[in-house]
Amino acid sequence: MKFMNETSLLEVIRKRRTSYQFLDSDSYPVEDTELKICLESAIWAPNHKLTQPWRFWVLGSDMQKRVAEVYAQKRAQKQSQNDPDLYQSAYDKALEKFIRIPKIVLVGQLLAKDPVIAKEDYAACACAIQNFQLSAWYQQIGVQWSTGPILNDPRTYEMLGIEAENCELIGVLYLGKIDEDCCPNQMVKRKPVAEVTVFTD
Ligand SMILES: Cc1cc2nc3c(=O)[nH]c(=O)nc-3n(C[C@H](O)[C@H](O)[C@H](O)COP(=O)(O)O)c2cc1C
Repeated sequence: MKFMNETSLLEVIRKRRTSYQFLDSDSYPVEDTELKICLESAIWAPNHKLTQPWRFWVLGSDMQKRVAEVYAQKRAQKQSQNDPDLYQSAYDKALEKFIRIPKIVLVGQLLAKDPVIAKEDYAACACAIQNFQLSAWYQQIGVQWSTGPILNDPRTYEMLGIEAENCELIGVLYLGKIDEDCCPNQMVKRKPVAEVTVFTD
């Protein structure tokens, strides 16, 4: 099966969708070679002063299970706010969901003291993530770029050995193989160029 019928750069950019459902990783694993292509693409992002502020953590299955507990606790706390009886079932469901995600990559930004550089570094990291996402999509791998609450939890930093004063976790990338109709309900639209652009004299 050929995923991308039309492989022009614009088509890859336009067709990429945030993916929330992945094929089962036992049958359709994300191969290390495929993941390396995504990471390799990420590090070629544009980056003022070449600070190379991005850092990546590719979770192994043990670490994924450990981070899953943080994820499940956060989700369950939120979902059971009005009814504590819902906590356990929400926890179990969230744990299962997180563990079943085929591959998880956390992205951190090294923290520059200069606020201008820090802002530019965040932009560079965002470019890196988009490079990653596009390279993934090209290989029939969908990505959800999330800024969910596990990123703000001190336990995540501790488990990964990250010093929060030096590096901020800015994104978690959930990824997995997808099929052609992975995102059937996502009719994501964009305003036309003419509406968001001013062409001056
Ligand atoms: C900085 C940033 C943070 C995002 N955080 C989340 C998130 O926490 N959860 C989520 O489901 N999607 C998140 N997204 C993905 C957007 O929701 C998604 O790109 C948007 O809905 C447009 O859909 P598309 O990616 O399919 O074009 C994030 C995207 C960006 C750029």
